[in-house]
Amino acid sequence: MIKFEILSIFPEMFASPLNFSLLKKAQEKGLLNICLHDIRNWADDKHKMTDDAPYGGGCGMVMKVEPVEKALNAIKSPENDSTIVLMTPQGEVLNHKIAADLAGKKQIIIICGRYEGVDERIRTHLVDREISIGDYILTGGELAALVLIDTVSRFIPDVLGNPLSTHSDSFSDDLLEHPQYTRPAQYKGWTVPDVLLSGNHAQIELWRKKESLKRTYQRRPDLLRKMKLSAEDEKIMDKIKQEDI
Ligand code: ADE
Repeated sequence: MIKFEILSIFPEMFASPLNFSLLKKAQEKGLLNICLHDIRNWADDKHKMTDDAPYGGGCGMVMKVEPVEKALNAIKSPENDSTIVLMTPQGEVLNHKIAADLAGKKQIIIICGRYEGVDERIRTHLVDREISIGDYILTGGELAALVLIDTVSRFIPDVLGNPLSTHSDSFSDDLLEHPQYTRPAQYKGWTVPDVLLSGNHAQIELWRKKESLKRTYQRRPDLLRKMKLSAEDEKIMDKIKQEDI
């Protein structure tokens, strides 16, 4: 079971996305526990201020350090097995490997920063990891936190109906997934590759591997360049490149 603790000034943003489909079922089955915390609860001035103007001037507001630190002290597991993540466009860009790694943690505390920024002392003194979901700026870390929760949860055993799903995902072996088809076999003259209807599992596996390599070659050659292909996959790749000429 993973416990996610979300620190946000807009905890209401989370209710609906977490209340559907596999994430809802995972929470009902006790595989996943998601606690929402309003950072304002740890702001002790009378206006419950969680942000303030930046030192040195400039526009926008900056998230204050004290309420965040107090919230972390209250929430952090005493067993010292928590990871504290700050969602920020300046973090390492989320990928399959980071998600799989986080899925091994017991308690993940996610701080949702606001778009103007957070006091640097939050980063330097309170956070274990800074994560971005891509090179674009969101209005706050809440949507990014939802993306992180979703993808990490897929690695928790029994969250997905089929335990093999994360293994065959795009990116699980650094390749994009092969194309998929379902009934009907013919739709407006749009057909399904014969091999998938053949019942020949060895041929189907071979086709899937080739399509997976081909798709990665065509769409994400950067991924292929980072990989070490097996001798067998290299042969398939040579064929794909010849067919491409
Ligand atoms: N907050 C604002 N933009 C973000 C991004 N791209 N990733 C994570 N957190 C963010």
